Amino acid sequence: MNVMRVAVIGLAACLPVAAVAHGQSVSFDEAAARGHALYHGVIALDGPAHVGGAMLPASAGACVNCHGARGQGGIEAGVKVPGISWRMLTQPNADRPAYESGLHILQAIEGGRSAHGHRLAPPMPAFALTDAEKEALSAYLQVIGTEADQAQGVLQDHLKIGAVLPLQGAGRSRGERIQAGLRERFAAINDAGGIYGRRLELIVEEAGASPDSVVQAVDRIIEQQQVFALVGSFLPELPAASLQTIKRHRTPVVATLGVPLHDATERDLTYLLPSIESQLRQLGGEVRAQCDTEKGLYVLHAPMPGLAEVIRATVANTAGRAGALMQVVQSPAEALAVLREPTERTVIALASKGTVQTIRAQMQGTAAPICLATLAAFSGLPQPALNDSPDASTMIREVVGLPLPVVALSSDPAIEGDALWTVLADVSARILAEALARTGRVVDYEAFDRALHSLQGFEPINGLPVRVTSQQRHGVAAAYIWRGVSHVRTE
Ligand code: HEC
Repeated sequence: MNVMRVAVIGLAACLPVAAVAHGQSVSFDEAAARGHALYHGVIALDGPAHVGGAMLPASAGACVNCHGARGQGGIEAGVKVPGISWRMLTQPNADRPAYESGLHILQAIEGGRSAHGHRLAPPMPAFALTDAEKEALSAYLQVIGTEADQAQGVLQDHLKIGAVLPLQGAGRSRGERIQAGLRERFAAINDAGGIYGRRLELIVEEAGASPDSVVQAVDRIIEQQQVFALVGSFLPELPAASLQTIKRHRTPVVATLGVPLHDATERDLTYLLPSIESQLRQLGGEVRAQCDTEKGLYVLHAPMPGLAEVIRATVANTAGRAGALMQVVQSPAEALAVLREPTERTVIALASKGTVQTIRAQMQGTAAPICLATLAAFSGLPQPALNDSPDASTMIREVVGLPLPVVALSSDPAIEGDALWTVLADVSARILAEALARTGRVVDYEAFDRALHSLQGFEPINGLPVRVTSQQRHGVAAAYIWRGVSHVRTE
């Protein structure tokens, strides 16, 4: 205890010098925040680091790589790495006496004498630190591993959470519905006392209409607003530059909305719904089971970059010997032109609701038993009325791939169109809240990541189990299939 106090005073005594040298004074909290960023490699150290005679790339020098997220130490490439929390450093252990002051600790980090009297051995690098870096690192070493060592956006009484949403133009109504769903759920959580006594504060940034404006919105919300995580953002396609920002800051992007073309693969990024790729894979299996695919397939699809490749990789191989014909359709008229001749092929239509309605009407005129497969992500929810029709001779067997189970969707009959987005946003917010509750009072990225990946089978709303694993980056466990009046879940 005494040693600790001496050490803190020793450090405090050396701080003003560093600050004066820069002609500016930085508060302890600011220094510690900067130290956090340096330690975790969010910002690089100015000077070089050397191990033995070799110069180290800046990224390899991040302390976190060897000493751990909470300064706990461990084994790195077979070498024992000591813990470096303030409490550990200022206490003697079997290998060395206690460090007497922050100054001594900094000397050791710079390759001078350590508490055991000689230079620290490789792989510990010798760092050339600027005064500001010394100040920052020594401040952060005092908080690392303690309650005060929290991730960005995690404050004493509130947690800053962001959402990037379209609030203008074509996506406006969707963005507003999502925002409403998030706000309502956050308000309910806050009314119930928050999470570990912390209120959830929602910060929304406008996504704009271009990939560039999305990049700027993501940068603003992470770097200026300093949120801990993003939740329920509408980001069906995340620009590569935004992915870089997220990875650099380790910002968890949780239960993102919109349906991406491909499954996400990044650790920090999860979606709520399965990708078009995985939905199509499910649909292909169901079409094989339900329809006579020996007669071949017609795949009519909207013009969307990358979609044709995904179709070829997922459903086109479902066709029998007659093979698959693929055709881009931009409008109902174009779909009609393609289907002018009666066909015995099973039709897979990935197009807007209007275009699919036209296709359905055209197919009803044909005599052959015929199959139509769609994805709700393109053309909306199925219409049960069609199959209830007493006029069975014109019945089309329909297979609809849904991103969610019908039970979850039909719990409220009023849920259709844009109202669905409020429900999805609510589900996203509940997933975030559950993961935060499982993280505990000290919120760091590792603990949150573990908590998020522990949600196996958690049901944010009844009948909708979610799970996130290192392979499955979307919360809803599988795509669901609707046919007739029933739905079956397929794994
Ligand atoms: C490549 C792995 C690696 C990196 C990166 C690294 N260290 Fe170390 N560090 C070690 C090892 C191994 C030791 C033990 C060396 C010894 O005992 O001779 C050590 C020792 C220390 C010690 C002395 C601990 C004691 O008990 O005497 C401190 C303080 C320290 N490191 C701080 C830092 C800081 C601050 C950074 C980032 C600026 C950092 N280290 C980056 C591997 C690393």
